[in-house]
Amino acid sequence: LVTSGPTHEPIDAVRYIANHSSGKQGHAIAAALAREGATVTLISGPVDEPPPRGVAVVSVRTAREMEAASLAALPSDIAVCAAAVGDFSMANESSQKIKKPDDGSAPTLALKQNPDILATICQHQVRPRLVIGFAAETQNVVDYAMAKRLRKGADWMLANDVGKTDSPVFGSDHNMVHLITEMGNEAWPEASKQEIADHLVDRIAKELNR
Ligand code: CTP
Repeated sequence: LVTSGPTHEPIDAVRYIANHSSGKQGHAIAAALAREGATVTLISGPVDEPPPRGVAVVSVRTAREMEAASLAALPSDIAVCAAAVGDFSMANESSQKIKKPDDGSAPTLALKQNPDILATICQHQVRPRLVIGFAAETQNVVDYAMAKRLRKGADWMLANDVGKTDSPVFGSDHNMVHLITEMGNEAWPEASKQEIADHLVDRIAKELNR
């Protein structure tokens, strides 16, 4: 099971709020797992990436839809949560387009938290043997990712710095990540998202064969 891409949360019948994510890394991981012979369900938010070969794709839009599709894909040996799930959705979504006030004012949007899919999978009765999350950070990358791994109960976290202005991660074909496990933290050299996916799948295969 692999989640990928952003989620879109409707504000009204016309507008939505979304996270920034191309889905490139998640799709590359799903493709690499399939090439190694895994049966893969890829649960993807709206992305421009083509569906990877040999992978069953479930297209979703909101975090709740992604959660439902992820839980429906259990039991699974491995879960890789690479999606940039929106943390918030509208407390009161309007079924009609919200009209712009004539007085120049802007509406205040009341938000509520979305379910945490990674944490839910980690606590699930049929928890996958290996649960891997991503940590998108803009500061204290490794420390925050280590804390996130413990808080969510994931086995591994891939941490990336999404705040770098010199080489932005979003939409790029390259990335630099740290792999965080219970053994500590490994900095991986900068590589293409495809190479990072291949490297991760090697590590997954070694771990499952241990
Ligand atoms: N994630 C998830 N469901 C959510 C939010 C995040 O499954 N509602 C997963 C992501 O797919 C990723 C991991 O949790 O694997 C960390 O996501 P990230 O955006 O880095 O962290 P958040 O949990 O949103 O925490 P914060 O925004 O406070 O950094």
